[in-house]
Amino acid sequence: MADISTIEQLAKRKGFFYPSDEIYGGLSGFYTYGHLGILMKNKLENLWKRFFLDEDNFYEVDPPLIMSEKVFEASGHLKSFVDPVVKCTKCGAVYRADTFLESVLKRTFEGLTPEGLSKIIMENSIKCTKCKGALEEVGILNMMFSLDVGAEKGLKGYLRPETAQGAYVNFLNQFNIQRKKIPMGLAIVGKAFRNEISPRQLTTRMREFTQAELQIFFDPEKVNEHKDWEEVKNYKLIVLPVSERDKKSKIEITCEELSKRIPKFYVCYMAKVQKFYLDALKIPRDKFRFRELSDDEKAFYNKIHWDMELNLESLDGFKEMGGVHYRTDHDLGGHQKVSKQAQEVFFENKKFIPHVLELSFGVDRILYALLDLFYSKEKDKVVLKLPASISPITVSIFPLVNKNGLDEKAMEIYNKIKLNLNAFYDNSGSIGRMYARADEAGTPICVTVDYDTMKDNTVTIRDRDTTKQERVKIEDLINVICTKLS
Ligand code: GAP
Repeated sequence: MADISTIEQLAKRKGFFYPSDEIYGGLSGFYTYGHLGILMKNKLENLWKRFFLDEDNFYEVDPPLIMSEKVFEASGHLKSFVDPVVKCTKCGAVYRADTFLESVLKRTFEGLTPEGLSKIIMENSIKCTKCKGALEEVGILNMMFSLDVGAEKGLKGYLRPETAQGAYVNFLNQFNIQRKKIPMGLAIVGKAFRNEISPRQLTTRMREFTQAELQIFFDPEKVNEHKDWEEVKNYKLIVLPVSERDKKSKIEITCEELSKRIPKFYVCYMAKVQKFYLDALKIPRDKFRFRELSDDEKAFYNKIHWDMELNLESLDGFKEMGGVHYRTDHDLGGHQKVSKQAQEVFFENKKFIPHVLELSFGVDRILYALLDLFYSKEKDKVVLKLPASISPITVSIFPLVNKNGLDEKAMEIYNKIKLNLNAFYDNSGSIGRMYARADEAGTPICVTVDYDTMKDNTVTIRDRDTTKQERVKIEDLINVICTKLS
């Protein structure tokens, strides 16, 4: 079992991630990924791209992080991307009103209006938890970071609060450049910025974070069909519909059954997303669920909204990792209105604004979740049993001792292996210490060069999870490792 401080210490000790600017006391909500962290993050992002961009007419684009005010006027973020906040009249402390009340009254208040939250504060005589001062009426705060663009005042830009808008404002360009055909997918993997009132829980709520988002543009008249329907209709989804909330934490239901009330196009992508978590990331089945959001809880742009959640011991239960969002023509329609540029396509003999299904993933939250889910402690030693496809280092190579040519031989093998696999050369400390270090970094395979290597050109390879060892000829090493890992 890993609690949040165990994950925090592991992440810092091994250099997965740690607070930024620490020499100046840090800036809340900003983290740096160290060497192991960035190797793992890159692998996670690449796996995501390989998995979701395998469809015909799906592409990756890379728009800027700063966009003009008009973009967010059109998307609704200027008006609606707000959090309810409450300020203490005495000490000036500012709280996010709904989560503040949740921590004090131990109930959830998601979706309540500022007026509703003010009423709860009054009825329960809630005071500032820092100084016991009276609280002001609940107000709202826009979560976007604004900035001046250029030297002259007056041109305002915003750091994007989601990657998605970059795909919408580029949609028509890409549609025309590619095959003038839908469905078309545009993926963006990159930073997003939100001025969170209370960043918390390490990298799961930051002010600068990474999203992997896929916007799928499609014909709204075809929302009840999908080319892969026959293949997925009997696939079982793990879900918590609104109607089951008071009774269960999740149920299993086939795509066919769910499609009686949710469009097939949407359900098909729920199946694809679930397969990403269970098959590609190897998340245990009992740790995953889709949670349906009620009308009060849905994001302002969504008609249908289910979150993907993972059950994390360190965060005391299910935590949102991403969402499947039916955004309809909310965004393209908004951009058409504000920019006065038609966003319609002419396709299959009709003119229309495509609808959008968005698959949204928080890369940092997933990485954090993987550390939580694959953390294990065996005889006082930490073993991070990450799937090989996302473990930062695939193979560690070390000499049994640093003499008699063993270290040179180990280095020679390392130099060859690193051309094909993420490899790490280690020669500090005892063999047991080097194994322990590799286990803690989540490295699935260790290779040891010993005295027999010098005689017969064989090495020992050791499997992290079973700790079993076997002798392998150096010439077969890469093939053997690749076969084991596949
Ligand atoms: N484009 C849709 C969108 O942005 P969202 O639910 O607001 O939807 C998607 O964000 C995902 O981004 C979340 O499920 C979460 O994983 C991640 N995310 C959101 N805010 C975050 C934050 N402050 N820190 C880390 N990750 C965050």
